[in-house]
Amino acid sequence: MLKEALDYAHQNHERFLNELKDFLTIPSISTDPEHKQDMQRGAEWLAGQLREIGMENVQILPTAGHPVVYGDWLHAGKMAPTVMVYGHYDVQPPDPLELWQTPPFEAEVRGDNLYARGSADMKGQVMASLKAVESIMKNGGLPVNIKWLIEGEEEIGSQHLDEFIKDHTELLKCDFCLNTDAGIIAADKPAITTGLRGLAYYELKVYGPAKDLHSGLYGGIIHNPAQALAELIAGMHDKKGRITLPGFYDNVRKLSKKDRKEFARLPLKKKTYLEQTGAPGLWGEPDFTPPERLGARPTLEVNGLLSGFTGPGSKTVLPAWAMAKISCRLVPDQTPKETTKQLVKYLKTHAPKDIRWELTFIHGAGAALVSSDSAAVMALSEAFKAVWGTEPYFRREGGSIGVVVQLQQRLGVDSVLSGFALEDCDAHSPNEKLHLPTWDRGIDTLIHFFYKLA
Ligand code: BES
Ligand code: MN
Repeated sequence: MLKEALDYAHQNHERFLNELKDFLTIPSISTDPEHKQDMQRGAEWLAGQLREIGMENVQILPTAGHPVVYGDWLHAGKMAPTVMVYGHYDVQPPDPLELWQTPPFEAEVRGDNLYARGSADMKGQVMASLKAVESIMKNGGLPVNIKWLIEGEEEIGSQHLDEFIKDHTELLKCDFCLNTDAGIIAADKPAITTGLRGLAYYELKVYGPAKDLHSGLYGGIIHNPAQALAELIAGMHDKKGRITLPGFYDNVRKLSKKDRKEFARLPLKKKTYLEQTGAPGLWGEPDFTPPERLGARPTLEVNGLLSGFTGPGSKTVLPAWAMAKISCRLVPDQTPKETTKQLVKYLKTHAPKDIRWELTFIHGAGAALVSSDSAAVMALSEAFKAVWGTEPYFRREGGSIGVVVQLQQRLGVDSVLSGFALEDCDAHSPNEKLHLPTWDRGIDTLIHFFYKLA
């Protein structure tokens, strides 16, 4: 049972790692239409794994976007809890490619780390769950019922998952969801996540002249769209780093004394972030500490800018348009709908009459807070203690995971959030890496967790 399952995991370590490497060769980039086939391959690869480890009813279920992989094993009896294990098989685009030391879709071990796009976020985590369950299945069977929900659109806002959940409420019925798409603080600092920020994502386009112009012939009489866009963006924050959209903070929940005490307990200091990011200094609202800003304060971020001539050399051009990808991280009780209204109001007030603007909403979801004292959280906390020898930290994190709110709203199901990716895993960056000793402990932790649940 527990001991046999742990022994099995250790004995099969090499094979587990090779299977993960194989999974990581599939460039399942959900945002890129050119990788639609790879998304299908990713789903099929997972369905194969689920069947191999003894799951039943394994299906690749279509959505209006990329498919969902489902499988279950429901023979632990009516008294045993039913756990949904969530995962996503999609990854972020790997660019800029030239900054990768080895190709993003050829996983390579260097030192203690496995380098590949998706290694930490989150194919490594999906494999940890699969391999923990395999180890238990091969050594006496699961003490709980299990349902797998592995989606292909997490990195693009889980846009079609909400409808999928709505259409499959009976199939997805469960007591809680294990979601390992969050992370821990460091290799010796396990953590359970109690909150995530939401997101509202936009494209803002500014149009000026009908075509690109000679900047000598027209510069000085035409408002340059790149400049107009820069002016609009610059006005979206004040000098203190506060967002100026009208009403933006109206529904932002105040931090209680207790909240602030919890944030203060975290071993996350200014230095931690300077080291992780390589930035020369930190920025943001001075009245909040870095972990507070990340976990409980909203942001407005420029994710990308495009306009005019950006090739080598020079071209004296006055561009016809400029575009920015802009997103806001949201906290309780903000909603994407209100954020959109506030952004539109800001643009209506501040956009000059000599340009035309167009705002497109791409996707959005509210923030999530989850229980920190449910039986499932207690079981995970004990599992961490058993493997790490130390209690996990509890913390609210800055990232977003669409499914968490969707499950709360559609099924009334709460999530237990954690994972085995470290803060410095370089998710979404070049040279994304999975810390293998932590991954091994992660598999052990999940094995303990499933037994503790029963
Ligand atoms: N694994 C992350 C979410 C995450 C990051 C949780 C850090 C906790 C800490 C996830 O894959 C992700 O990156 N999600 C996107 C979602 C977005 C597109 C809606 C994100 O947060 O940018
Ligand atoms: Mn992820």
